[in-house]
Amino acid sequence: PATELTVHKVGGRIGARIDGVTLSGDLSAETIAEIRAAILENKVVFFRNQGHLDDRAQIAFGERLGALTTPHPTVNTGSARVLTLKANRGMAANSWHTDVTFVDRPPAFSILRGVEIPDYGGNTVWANTATAYERLHPQLKALVDDLWAVHSNDYDYVRPDQADSTDDVAARKREEFIATIYQTEHPVVRIHPETGERTLVLGHFVKHFSGLNQKESATLFNLLQDRVTALENTVRWHWQQGDVAIWDNRATQHYAVADFDQQPREVRRITVQGDVPVSIGG
Ligand code: SIN
Repeated sequence: PATELTVHKVGGRIGARIDGVTLSGDLSAETIAEIRAAILENKVVFFRNQGHLDDRAQIAFGERLGALTTPHPTVNTGSARVLTLKANRGMAANSWHTDVTFVDRPPAFSILRGVEIPDYGGNTVWANTATAYERLHPQLKALVDDLWAVHSNDYDYVRPDQADSTDDVAARKREEFIATIYQTEHPVVRIHPETGERTLVLGHFVKHFSGLNQKESATLFNLLQDRVTALENTVRWHWQQGDVAIWDNRATQHYAVADFDQQPREVRRITVQGDVPVSIGG
């Protein structure tokens, strides 16, 4: 082989671990191409033992996959590129979503580094939105093929299972999050710009489907989300400090499981620019 890199599937429909790569190293164009191909095929890939990475090295690696976006459209992250997620600072991500779908061009890739990992709990789960579409009954495909959805950052944040959702920190974070309201329409089924696959564009930023009322939207949304998040369609990662996860944000949703009590947990994310989702009709 041209490189020492090896790819090991960790789930039947999604997820692979890549061994033999030091992400802070001077990686050849060939190695980057192999990593990119593995992400496109497996939707999310994991690297162990990358504890040597700091923000700069994470950014330098991310730029090999494409231009980086600002860390977040509304949250002041204190960094030009890095979003630090600390659940106990009102930044819990414990509901199913695709990153930043409320903008016209949601990120293509997200690269997440495990900085402080709790002793128990705090896994992240990813779901494959290409297989979710592919396995729909043809009649359901026909229903969603030219449907559009409205996405907004002003979604329903108050979740009954989010213990700190009413405390001050979380309330302030929410205010910051929605300081500017973004609203955009995306096709429910997009053509992936690199693989040509059809993927479902849903997740918690969806407000409603264009032309359908709230009740119709909620029923259809739940039906489709159930297909995306079926356990067989997911992979669950048990973080270790120094792990890196990279996912194709155009073909996945994810959920950060908030079951680690008051233990600190810190992960840092950078995002690679994506394009405007294109529907089947073009
Ligand atoms: C995210 O939603 O990007 C963060 C996932 C995590 O905290 O594991």
